[in-house]
Amino acid sequence: MSAAKKSYKRITTNSLTEMKQAGEKISMLTAYDYSMAKAVDAANIDVILVGDSASNVMSGHETTLPITLDQMLYHASAVVRAVKRALVVVDLPFGSYQSDPKEALRSSIRIMKEAGAHAIKIEGGVEIKDSMTRILNAGIPVMGHLGLTPQSIYKFGTYTVRAKEDAEAAKLLEDAKLLERLGCFALVLEKIPAGLAEQVAKAVTIPVIGIGAGNEVDGQVLVLHDMLGLTTEFSPRFLRRYMNLYDQMTNAIQQYVKDVKSSDFPNTDEQY
Ligand code: KIV
Repeated sequence: MSAAKKSYKRITTNSLTEMKQAGEKISMLTAYDYSMAKAVDAANIDVILVGDSASNVMSGHETTLPITLDQMLYHASAVVRAVKRALVVVDLPFGSYQSDPKEALRSSIRIMKEAGAHAIKIEGGVEIKDSMTRILNAGIPVMGHLGLTPQSIYKFGTYTVRAKEDAEAAKLLEDAKLLERLGCFALVLEKIPAGLAEQVAKAVTIPVIGIGAGNEVDGQVLVLHDMLGLTTEFSPRFLRRYMNLYDQMTNAIQQYVKDVKSSDFPNTDEQY
């Protein structure tokens, strides 16, 4: 039976492996709260990422660096309460895993225990090998993240495409193979050339999920608020907007203001 036709009641890390083997693309979106996560899950998404992009879209910070582990736990708990089918993956935020492997494990355990997440995501390759191993040895599923890793934005200096040069591309490929060897169940590749992403997806057996990494990978992820058009300033080439939710919301709210001011709302059917 082709896994493309298989319907999953509940997505697990194994389901994602099966999807890659069957050539079925994996769909992934972010969510940060109960109501949005409920809608995303009802639409049959495979993976919901409680991304540290919450720092940008939920809190208005310029980078992902300020969000804390406690704040991630708040978002993750709300998402987990809403989700019936999707695999819920939660980002380890900046500062919660870089100091030492023990701290990385402690942070991961809090995410799994207090929020009820199904897996964690962590940025980086060989530099975080020991932390990755420690977390995996505790039985916690880990998704890797290579390419543009926003927690290192002050090291990169810009949000431009990564790994265009041969040396960086070669390191990324080696990091991807290392993450597979360590036991990561999947890998996100952000903003790298499509040809390199294809090469990585072919070189590893774990699912490779791209964002700005072309179509020859095993799945795609976008930030929910970007693809719904709730954020308006951010327009990279890889972003497809499926709605203009910001405009639709503003129009609806303007209409509400008008109705209140004109005493049109509430009418006799809308009162007790
Ligand atoms: O935090 C996030 O939203 C992410 C995605 C861009 C993959 O890491």
